[in-house]
Amino acid sequence: MTQIDQRGPVAVKPSTSEGGQHPAARSGKRRRAWWLLGIAAVIIAFLIYQVPPYASMDPSQSRIPLQFPAHYWLIVGHVLFGSVAMLTLILQLWPWIRRRHPTVHRWSGRAYVFAGAIPSGLFAVAMLPVSYPAGRIGVAMSAVLWMATAVLGWIKLRQGRYAVHRRLMLYSFAIVWGQVIWGFVIGMPFALGWIPFTGDFDHIVEAARWVGWVGNLVVVQWWLDRTRGRDLGLVTPRTA
Ligand code: HEM
Repeated sequence: MTQIDQRGPVAVKPSTSEGGQHPAARSGKRRRAWWLLGIAAVIIAFLIYQVPPYASMDPSQSRIPLQFPAHYWLIVGHVLFGSVAMLTLILQLWPWIRRRHPTVHRWSGRAYVFAGAIPSGLFAVAMLPVSYPAGRIGVAMSAVLWMATAVLGWIKLRQGRYAVHRRLMLYSFAIVWGQVIWGFVIGMPFALGWIPFTGDFDHIVEAARWVGWVGNLVVVQWWLDRTRGRDLGLVTPRTA
């Protein structure tokens, strides 16, 4: 905004009441994203528990029975790239990064898609024939949809279709979060015997491999519909 005085055109800081601030400046007054701390804490706890047996590079540490010699290395690839996806997901969701550091948002987004979802998803697909049979179709569908939504989200970004980009990336986050975290949360207490269960364990596995990601997609869709038209500062042309 400029005004003319004796010195010529001078920049005038717009007042808040005029609503003329740049989105980046406005963000200072936004509520802090406390929810992100919860998401980050769960992801870090998940990784601390899940990664060590596969970071050790020692096949005897595998938590799942190995079916052939290269099986362990498929899991290692899956977990390595999966960890990149989960860590960059935190950066992608962080509103402050999106507004103040668009370059970080851009690069972590690329890492999420090309060093996270795609390679980790491909390793998951490669393991499917030897994976635990219960819920295998649910896992297969989530792997394909995880990769598809991430790639399509990136393509829409390249086309400048920011609203569709945002929608697809949120679907992608919902799928991986649902498959990994909810699968973990639903399955673990039973697997560790914290919740006594005398029925068929396959029913639990089947549920764990469907309920989380399908439920998450329903919740994200509901949230997108509910917040339609609201400025959530999620993606702007400058930050995408
Ligand atoms: C939608 C996304 C994902 C799908 C579809 C998927 C699928 C799979 C499949 C099929 C297996 C083999 C399980 C078996 O043999 O029964 C597996 C194992 C594993 N995945 Fe994923 N995965 C996904 C995301 C991730 C992410 C992001 C991580 C984060 C590091 C991860 C960590 C692991 C680990 C640690 C194992 C080994 C199993 C264990 O030790 O409990 N996965 N995953």
